[in-house]
This record gives sequence, structure tokens and C-alpha cells, in this order.
Amino acid sequence: MITQLIFLLLITSIHGKRYHIFGENDSSSSIKNERLLVDIDIYNRPYVLPYFLHQLERLTCPCNQCYLDFHIYHVFHTTTENETTQLLTEWVSAMKKSEQSAFTTITIHEWTAKSTTDQTNRLRDVMKRISELDITYLAMFDSMIILLEPEKLLSTLISKDKPLMTPLLRATKDMYTSTFYLNDQQMTGFDYYKQIYDRKKLGCFLIDGGIKDFYFFNFKYPQVRLIFLHDKIFEDTQQQYAIDVVARQNFIPTYVCNREIFGYIPAQFLEALYDESVIHDLYMHMLTEHQLNGPSQTYLPPITRTSLISIPSSSKEKTKFGLDEIYVINLVRRTDRRERLQATFDILNISARFFDAIDGKHTIDQAYLERLNVRLLPEYEDPYNLRPMNYGELGCFFSHYFIWEDIVKNEYSNGVLILEDDVRFDPYFKYKLEKILSNRSLDWDLIFLGRKIMRPDEENYENTIETFLIEPSYSHWTVGYALSLRGARMLIDEKPLQKILPVDEYLPIMYDHHPNENWKSHFVNRKLKAYAFHPSILTPTHYFGEPNYISDTENTTIHRETNRVAAAKLLSVDVIANQKQTEENTPMSKDEL
Ligand SMILES: *[C@@H]1O[C@H](CO)[C@@H](O)[C@H](O)[C@H]1NC(C)=O
Ligand SMILES: *[C@@H]1O[C@H](CO)[C@@H](O)[C@H](O)[C@H]1NC(C)=O
Ligand SMILES: *[C@@H]1O[C@H](CO)[C@@H](O)[C@H](O)[C@H]1NC(C)=O
Ligand SMILES: *[C@@H]1O[C@H](CO)[C@@H](O)[C@H](O)[C@H]1NC(C)=O
Ligand SMILES: *[C@@H]1O[C@H](CO)[C@@H](O)[C@H](O)[C@H]1NC(C)=O
Repeated sequence: MITQLIFLLLITSIHGKRYHIFGENDSSSSIKNERLLVDIDIYNRPYVLPYFLHQLERLTCPCNQCYLDFHIYHVFHTTTENETTQLLTEWVSAMKKSEQSAFTTITIHEWTAKSTTDQTNRLRDVMKRISELDITYLAMFDSMIILLEPEKLLSTLISKDKPLMTPLLRATKDMYTSTFYLNDQQMTGFDYYKQIYDRKKLGCFLIDGGIKDFYFFNFKYPQVRLIFLHDKIFEDTQQQYAIDVVARQNFIPTYVCNREIFGYIPAQFLEALYDESVIHDLYMHMLTEHQLNGPSQTYLPPITRTSLISIPSSSKEKTKFGLDEIYVINLVRRTDRRERLQATFDILNISARFFDAIDGKHTIDQAYLERLNVRLLPEYEDPYNLRPMNYGELGCFFSHYFIWEDIVKNEYSNGVLILEDDVRFDPYFKYKLEKILSNRSLDWDLIFLGRKIMRPDEENYENTIETFLIEPSYSHWTVGYALSLRGARMLIDEKPLQKILPVDEYLPIMYDHHPNENWKSHFVNRKLKAYAFHPSILTPTHYFGEPNYISDTENTTIHRETNRVAAAKLLSVDVIANQKQTEENTPMSKDEL
């Protein structure tokens, strides 16, 4: 057997203090003689290290001794080839000085090549360590995972008392990627998988299939010792699934445990097999999505980075995509949304400016409307709720309008991006937006980054795979759009405040794709050159009807009867009730800022 492996050793020992998470009493003495090895694959993707290493710092050791072995794979030939080694070495020496470390020793092994035989040698190396150190528990995973509550991880895994198990780590919302898979033959198939993934039932489940990305072995089970002693076992097997195949051959029961949410793994798209930049984007996306997993109506705090090593500051690299400004419309009282987005922009290296939204609930009154000389569009009525505009919608229009004025005032000739603060970014958001905005021959006034398609039958999706763009038909939402200076001027020149209707009705009128001829007729120069990303590259964080749907315009609607009076009184315009627009299969309400 020829192996192209060059095996380099760089061992650093550190003597750190251990946490006694079970206390000093008899429960800790019961595992006094147990030893645990954490064995980690590190790929040369230095961008993960600040986050990943911070989680390792927070691991606590529930055993007498815990050891940490890193295996760096130089798989990808990039300009940052040595950066991973440098950062890791720096971190190890900082850990050596730290009082916090859970580990007796930390070693770094470097693998300069990877072939199908690597896994065999890699596992042989692990076996050697297991017998040398007399290991009781082995945790194997790689640097692409994100651990939540690492403080509890190892003791929780031990408490499951299974020969071979994986904690449930999931990809972000909607993407069924996890640390376990099922056999194709499994009768219950995807339903069984989904129940475990979605945590519809909780516990440890026997997997008729396999596990990946995270393995936890308990060597107190004799059959587990056996698989690591059996020398030839890994040779013929497909490297990625070697452990699974061997476990099955040796009848080792394998479990996934989902009672605790242990963390995330990046979604696995097919493209990720071939393209490192896709993996990068999926990893960053995983970090940004984390905050959206909070219990109802709250955001989780962001995943934090280590402070033990110096990370190159990203401030220089912050982007506006070549635009003159990125505005984020945010109500001052929604500091939670502002903080969530600021953390997201930090991860994505985007430079944005928060723009104080006009608060329909607290700011707009009669005097305010009179000052702006606001008039309702006479025939306007919400097509779903059959009600006139509410204060939230007015505030939303004003917020967008004042930004358009700001664009014109500053003569932002490179255009701008306007986002609302409930925006959720797609994994390829940056890549696709950069690609489109760098095309100087594309003549645009408005580009929807996300929208609700109202008339799918009127759109042609043929070329969207190459171009990402489509000429949109009637569409709703203003969660994110790019606007040119020329576009901003057109939107203002029509004097929309004097015939106001919701901003996401105004935009389709202005690119002349609105079904209501009556409303349209009030506006003359409907010549916005509009495009839309298809599929959308951003969406609102919550859709109407979802449990966590939060709307800042909710409860700003006054009852129909009073509103009619109020509107008439405030705006000197009556609202015509029978201008009912009926549409099949449309949702019950529009989503609002
Ligand atoms: C050991 O610690 C556990 C958990 O803190 C506690 O419940 C138990 O009473 C302790 N036992 C003794 C003997 O102190
Ligand atoms: C990485 O380090 C080695 C040895 O220090 C050096 O020869 C090599 O050129 C470096 N590679 C890069 C991409 O900097
Ligand atoms: C942001 O910049 C840092 C370095 O400054 C880099 O590691 C990271 O990958 C960048 N993030 C994105 C999404 O490009
Ligand atoms: C740029 O936009 C023009 C006009 O839509 C289009 O014909 C061309 O293919 C685009 N170029 C690239 C590289 O996408
Ligand atoms: C809206 O009003 C209803 C009834 O007064 C109340 O139960 C609900 O919590 C309010 N919703 C919000 C978001 O304030």
C-alpha cells in the first residue's frame, strides 16, 4: 500500500487546570480513573477558527484527564495555507497560560496531503493514542461545527452511556443536514428522520444507517475496543463512512441523541463538494442564522470569537458592494433587531447605516400629516383586510420616502441598498449581489433582493439560473431593494405623499406592473427599470401566520368605522369601501414592516 502521506508532528504539551463539573464529591470519584480524548480535524479554512476555538476554550473536562489532539489537513491550496497552523499554534500557547483549559495536553499534527488512504492512517493514529493514553471516551469531530453550551457537552455525552453515539447537530432552518442519516431501506424513512431532526420526540435513537461529523465512543463497551483493535478494518471502506461501516460490521449499536440542542453543522449542498467559496458562504450563513433560533419573538446572542489570538480586523474589508450607501430602516425602540443585524453585518463584513424609522404608533398624528401635506389615494383599500392604510403603513412609506430624499440630496450616483430590519440573508446573498452590481452594462433603477411574487404566471423564469435576475411582475414587500439615483428621483417626482398608498403597492405601479388601473392612473411617469433576484436572496425573518411573526404595524389599525371617520377627518379624503380586489389563493394579509 502506497501512502502519499507526509506525517509531521508538532506536539505541544500544556498543563492546564481542570474543572470539576460534578464537584469534588463521590460522583466525581466514580470517574476518577477515566480519560477522555477529543480528536479534531482542522481544515485549512482559517475563517472558522476564531469561532471554533472559542467553543473549545469553554469545554470542561468531566474526567480525570482530558486530552486534545488536532489534525490539520492542508487540503486546499490557498494563499492562507499556513495561516491555520499559525493561528492554532498561537492559540495553543495562549491556552497553556490559561487557567481555564480543560486539557492536560494539546497536540497539533499536520497532514500535508489527503488521499483515500488517509482516513485509514488517521484512524490508526487515533488507535495508537487510545491505547497509549488508556482512553475511556473518544470524541471525534471537525472544525466546521458550532457547539452551543460547550460547558455541558462532554459530561452530557458521557451520561448518555452509549457505545457509539452522535449528538444531534443540525444545519440551519429548512435544510435537513445533520449528524445522522438513515438507510435507504428504512421503512419509516424521512418521517422517522424528520421526527428526530425536528425533535418531535426526544431521547437517544438507534440509527439504522449511520452517523457523521461527530462521533462519541465509549470504550467501556468491549465491542468498541474491538473495532479499534482490528487492524485491517478501515482499508477497503469508503473513507467518509469508514467508522459507520466498521460499526455495522461489528454490530455496534449506534445512536443519535436529541434531547439537548448541541449545535450546528453547515448545510451540505452539492456545490459544496466542489467549491470552497460555497463552504465559506454556508459557514457564515450558519453563524447569521443562529440568532434567529431564539424562543418566540427573541433573538439569541451571537456566536462569539476567541480573544486568545489576534484576529485580523475585518474593518478594512467591510463592503457596500460598490454602492454609495446601505440603509437599514429600524425603529429606535426595536434595539433587539438593530443588535441582531449589527452582529450579522459584522459576520458578513457589510457596512450599513441604520436609519431611524418613522414610528406609526408614536410619531404620526394629525399635525405630522398636515405638515407633510399627506393625502390618501382616494380609492385605496387594503385588498385583503378591506381597510384603509394604517399608521404603521404610513410610517413605513415615510421611512422609505425620506431615504429616497436622502439619496437625491447626496446625489448617490452609484445607487444604494435599502433593507428593512427583519431581513434574513440567503447563503449566497453576497456572492450574487456582488456579481450583479459589478455588471456595469446592466441598466437598473430598482432591483428587488427579496419580494413576494403576486403573479407567477406573468413571469418568465427561463434564464434565471445564469443571470439570477428576472423582470418582475406585480410584487409585494420592501424587505430589501437596490435603488438608483435616477430611480429615487422618479419616485419623488410623482409626489406620492399627496396620493399615498402602501410603499409596496407604489413600487410596482412605478415599474408599471400593477393590476389596478385605477390606482395606476394617478401616477404618470411609470418608467422605473426594475429587476428582481430569482430566487430571492433575502427574505423576512418571519412570514405572516408563523408563530414568531412580529409586525410593528400590528395593532396600529383603527377599527374600520372609526378609521373611516378618522381618515376623513385627518386627511380630508374619504375611503371608498367597495373597491374590493379579489384574488384567488392569496394570503390573508400582507406582511408589513
Ligand atoms: C455530590 O454532588 C451532587 C451534585 O452536586 C449532590 O447532589 C450530592 O449530594 C453530593 N454528594 C455528596 C456526598 O456530597
Ligand atoms: C508555508 O510555510 C512553508 C514553511 O514555512 C513555506 O515554505 C511556504 O511557502 C508557506 N506557504 C505559503 C502559501 O505561504
Ligand atoms: C470577513 O472578514 C474576515 C477577515 O477580516 C474573514 O475571515 C471572513 O471570512 C469575512 N466574512 C465574509 C462573509 O466574507
Ligand atoms: C450584464 O448585463 C447585461 C445586460 O442585462 C447582460 O446582457 C450581460 O450578460 C451581463 N453580463 C454578465 C457578465 O452577467
Ligand atoms: C394587539 O392587541 C391585542 C388585543 O389588545 C393584544 O392581545 C395583542 O398582544 C397585541 N399585539 C401586539 C403585538 O401588541
